[in-house]
Amino acid sequence: GDILIIHGPNLNLLGKREPHIYGSLTLVEINERLINHARRLKLELDIMQTNHEGVIIDAIQQAESQFACIIINAGAFTHYSLAIRDALAAVSIPAIEVHLSNIHKRDEFRHKSVIAPVVAGQICGFGADSYILALDAAARLVRQKEQ
Ligand code: DQA
Repeated sequence: GDILIIHGPNLNLLGKREPHIYGSLTLVEINERLINHARRLKLELDIMQTNHEGVIIDAIQQAESQFACIIINAGAFTHYSLAIRDALAAVSIPAIEVHLSNIHKRDEFRHKSVIAPVVAGQICGFGADSYILALDAAARLVRQKEQ
């Protein structure tokens, strides 16, 4: 695979979880869009969702040997998980941080991302399209590296 997509906690509830904030698409529907877009970009994709911090850390560590780039929506872990930040900093492949909502115009505690300083870039505020834009960015990173 070229790219690993990690959906973190509570994203399995998309569609019924605060749809006014996160939209009405389910995670399955978002993943279908991602798979279709990856096909257009000729990229291989692996997608996972977990509610557990340690599972995310294991996945980041293991991704280094298998993938060229990580796309991660760490959910609320974004705002306080130094362990996920350290894992992202420890691996040599780039990561792209994604959020459906614009975290900067929501609650004060969502403004801070502890992972932002160790990722290639952050895309937030475009709903499910945030993931599509992240895939475009990942394709560019992967191709830059291949040249
Ligand atoms: C989120 C934003 C986080 O603040 C929140 O805890 C989530 C989802 C987003 O995609 O907008 O679980 O990462």
